[in-house]
Formats: sequence, structure tokens, C-alpha cells
Amino acid sequence: MKIPVGVIGLGIGKHHIEGYLSNPNCTVVAIADTDKTRLETVGNQYGITNRFLSAEALIDSDLCQVISVATPNKFHRELSIRALEKGAHVLCEKPMAMNAEEARSMIEAAQRTGKRIMINFSYRFTMPARALKKRIEAGDLGEAYYGRSLWLRRRGMPGFGGWFGNKDLAGGGPLIDLGVHRLDLALWFMGYPEVDYVAGATYAPIATEIAKREHKPYSVEDLAVGFIRFKNGASLSLEASWAGNIKENELMETRILGNKGGLVHRNIGEGYQFEAEFFSEHEGFQWDERYHEASGWAAGSPKPDTAMSHFIDAIVEGIPHEADGREGLVVMHILDALYRSAEIGQPVKL
Ligand SMILES: NC(=O)c1ccc[n+]([C@@H]2O[C@H](COP(=O)([O-])OP(=O)(O)OC[C@H]3O[C@@H](n4cnc5c(N)ncnc54)[C@H](O)[C@@H]3O)[C@@H](O)[C@H]2O)c1
Repeated sequence: MKIPVGVIGLGIGKHHIEGYLSNPNCTVVAIADTDKTRLETVGNQYGITNRFLSAEALIDSDLCQVISVATPNKFHRELSIRALEKGAHVLCEKPMAMNAEEARSMIEAAQRTGKRIMINFSYRFTMPARALKKRIEAGDLGEAYYGRSLWLRRRGMPGFGGWFGNKDLAGGGPLIDLGVHRLDLALWFMGYPEVDYVAGATYAPIATEIAKREHKPYSVEDLAVGFIRFKNGASLSLEASWAGNIKENELMETRILGNKGGLVHRNIGEGYQFEAEFFSEHEGFQWDERYHEASGWAAGSPKPDTAMSHFIDAIVEGIPHEADGREGLVVMHILDALYRSAEIGQPVKL
């Protein structure tokens, strides 16, 4: 029997539907959105007839064994906990919640109910990222001691004037929106080392000026920078912007340096395709290796995956899923501490 899935929030939620539809072990049986037009359009596009104007009604319908929560950040906690308590496994969008305290209560709900919670750290599922992870697991990187991870936009505030720039609905700006992805990716490559302390700074000169000019609300940063020091001595620098006077419109890059090798995962041509490179030294010779997207020919080559399809496979096979809520919680602790550090102008111990 196919696992019945529900999707709440139909912006990025449309990608969730497509991710689930790529897996033959599940079927999307219900959708919810408070926007009637969006609900109808998406329902018609995918032929989904159970349509709810309230997330709570979808959850309470008991139609779904897996529920995606893809609403504005403010509602992640409340809807995820409700879904878990109704007996569904939850795939929640990033950031996991508005802050670590909320994220912790979601983990507690998952433990209490014995259900799963996964966070959509989608960049882990890009093929170049998976290829790099294989090299790390093979020991080619050695000990990771430094990382630099960034997602910078020259001008790219999602839905300017809307919920993304509203601290009460989003919890923060580009750090919690974009930085969260590059932070998770770097931590994943580095093996999620335990954090010692962080130092952060946030700025909003450009967005604040635009908001004033356009008479739109804006209450978050437009650039955040951070330094994370781990208990094993390694460190990571992080940058995220929606606005900054830089050349690139969209620049994503994660570099990790290890004692045996180094890697980079970055976007190609300022878009949403990715590439990977690996750098090493062998018997005095230096190597640059470049990932080549050629799956399908080599025996046993992995197929492209999505967080949604991975979640379903893990449930069906009864094995642990990746990007578990506990990693989402670690990320929220770091984000909280970076914002706190920016506020007080001091490093923050975790
Ligand atoms: N993983 C990724 O790459 C990625 C990409 C984009 C967005 N996101 C995350 O996904 C979430 C949604 O972002 P988005 O870009 O789709 O935003 P969006 O504003 O485009 O879409 C959100 C949708 O949720 C609906 N909605 C709002 N409150 C609701 C509620 N209480 N119940 C039901 N529906 C509700 C809105 O009507 C809207 O259609 C955010 O947490 C965001 O950070 C993740």
C-alpha cells in the first residue's frame, strides 16, 4: 500500500508534491493552504481532490501518514507538533522553527509519539553534495579543521514587504533563511562537531533604505556574518545576505579544508545547478578533481534524490532518515547564538 501524504503550504510545498510523486511508495492525498486560489490551482495541477483551507483541518482529517509542513516559519512548530500528535511523520521545512526552544519542543513531541521528524535541508540531496560526502566517508578529507560557507545575494529579498522580512513571522532574515542551508551543509560535511562558541554580526543598511523608500515593513537583517568554533578545535565562517554590494546576484559556496584533502560545493553560473571539486596531494603531486554528473552509466551509480523521496524510503525500509530534527535543533542553537552575539556584541558560548 502506498503511504498517504499531505502537504501544507503550497509555495515551496509544490516541490514537496513533486518530490513525493517521484517515489512509487507514496501518494499525495491531501493539500492545505489558506490561499484559496493557490489551493485550487495546485489541486487541479496535480489532481489532488482533498483540499483544505486550514492546515489543522488537513491534520485532523487523519488522511495522511506523512505530512510536509511548508508554511511560513512561525507555524512550523505548532503544525508539526499537531501532526506528530495525530500520528503522522513530519517533514518540516527549514528553518526548523523560529528558535531552538521551539525546535526542542518539536523533538520532544516526536519522542513522545514515536514518530519521525525530518528537516528539508535540501542541498544535501544535490548529487555533487552526495558525491563529496562519499569522499569524506572514504576518509579522503581526513580531519576537517576549517570551513567557509556562504550564500550571498546582491539584491534578492524573497517577497519584499511580505512575511520573510517580518521578524515575528520569519524569526530573522537571510541568516535563518539562506544561511541555514549552508550552515547545515558545512556541518554535515564536517560531521556535525559539537559547538564551543560563536560570534556573529548582522547589518541591514540596504534593505532598510529600500523599505523606507517603498513604504514597506522590514524588521530583519540583510547581511549576517558568523564565526563558529567547535570543541574539537575546528572552525567555520558563515555569511548570508539578501542584499549587498557585490558582483554576483546569487553566490553559494561551501569549502571545507581537511588535513588530507579539501572540497568545494558551489552553484554554477549564479543559478540552482551545483558543482563539486576535490583537492588533494598524493606523493608530492597536487590534484584537482572535478565531479562529473554522469549517473546512469556506471554500475551502481546513485540516482538523484529528494528529501521527500528519501524520507519515504527510510520509513518503508525502517531505517534512520537523514537531516533528522536533532540536527535541525543544533542548527537552531547556532542561529540563536549568532543572533544573540550580534545583539550583544560579544561571542556566545553554547
Ligand atoms: N528548502 C528550500 O530550499 C526552501 C525554499 C523556499 C522556502 N523554504 C521554506 O519553506 C517555507 C515556506 O516558504 P515559501 O517560499 O513556500 O513561502 P510562500 O509564502 O511562497 O508560501 C507559503 C504558503 O503557505 C500558505 N500558508 C501560510 N500560513 C498558512 C497556514 N497557517 N496554513 C496553511 N497554509 C499557510 C500561504 O498561503 C502560502 O501559499 C518557509 O519555511 C521557507 O523557509 C524552503
